Amino acid sequence: MTRSLDGKVAAVTGAARGIGDAIATRLLADGATVFALDKNPPDEPRAGIVHIETDVTDPASVAAAFKTIDERAGHIDILVNNAGIQRVGLVGKVSFADFSAVVATHLNGLFLCASEAVPRMVARGKGGSIVSIASTAAFVGLPGRGAYCAAKAGILGLTRALSLEVATSGIRVNAVAPGFTRTKFIDQGLADGSLEEGWMIGRVPMKRLATTEEISNAVRFLAGDEATYMTGQTIVVDGGWIVQGIPEAPTWLQTPAS
Ligand SMILES: NC(=O)c1ccc[n+]([C@@H]2O[C@H](COP(=O)([O-])OP(=O)(O)OC[C@H]3O[C@@H](n4cnc5c(N)ncnc54)[C@H](O)[C@@H]3O)[C@@H](O)[C@H]2O)c1
Repeated sequence: MTRSLDGKVAAVTGAARGIGDAIATRLLADGATVFALDKNPPDEPRAGIVHIETDVTDPASVAAAFKTIDERAGHIDILVNNAGIQRVGLVGKVSFADFSAVVATHLNGLFLCASEAVPRMVARGKGGSIVSIASTAAFVGLPGRGAYCAAKAGILGLTRALSLEVATSGIRVNAVAPGFTRTKFIDQGLADGSLEEGWMIGRVPMKRLATTEEISNAVRFLAGDEATYMTGQTIVVDGGWIVQGIPEAPTWLQTPAS
């Protein structure tokens, strides 16, 4: 049974579409007041979700967003750091601007939003939950995605460090690491040729991509009171991708699909 998020106030970055939209929608459905912090307007506006135009790489923009949340809701209980971008290129060829943009969006974005949320949560004294969206790329190397791998691994490092800093305040800090999930983020990689649907799906033991709802379920669990003793952790939601040792086991070592 799922406990309600009634009375909780949540901020979800990058919630204008994709995984962030699914997370915001799920938190709203379970009773939270939800603010979507995104630099772009929502693809499909959701009744009840308040969009605040925010660039998570800009300290002033993030500070202004949290001021708006103060004015409209009075407090913050849940922060989901989800905003992300992708820039593909080899070290030696990829520009410093592109490398920096990826790190700034994923890692600086988490730092800036947590820097606003944590003092508010501590001052209120009712704990809180911070969930950041990492990736399977935090655990492996992906050629051409050095900035992305570094930023996602950095998210796990900051998650662990921050979880210890705020543990006695009842604030929990965790991460969710999705595998390939069907969104425009993936469409971009398919369009520029850095991803191919065949090998993406072939490499997943469950032989399909994740849905955005499957990622939002893990975030919902960590955000709520079902996970009150979990902190500093990462939930991997990848259809078995990360634990696969050999590409394809012989058929006699696989359980048939029935
Ligand atoms: N889709 C996947 O396969 C996959 C896999 C692993 C991890 N992730 C991670 O999940 C998160 C969401 O990915 P998605 O697939 O939904 O991507 P998406 O491109 O569909 O959505 C990303 C959202 O982030 C917003 N955004 C980008 N830069 C921003 C900024 N500076 N400030 C505020 N908002 C900003 C965009 O406007 C967009 O709404 C990202 O962190 C991504 O790295 C995605």
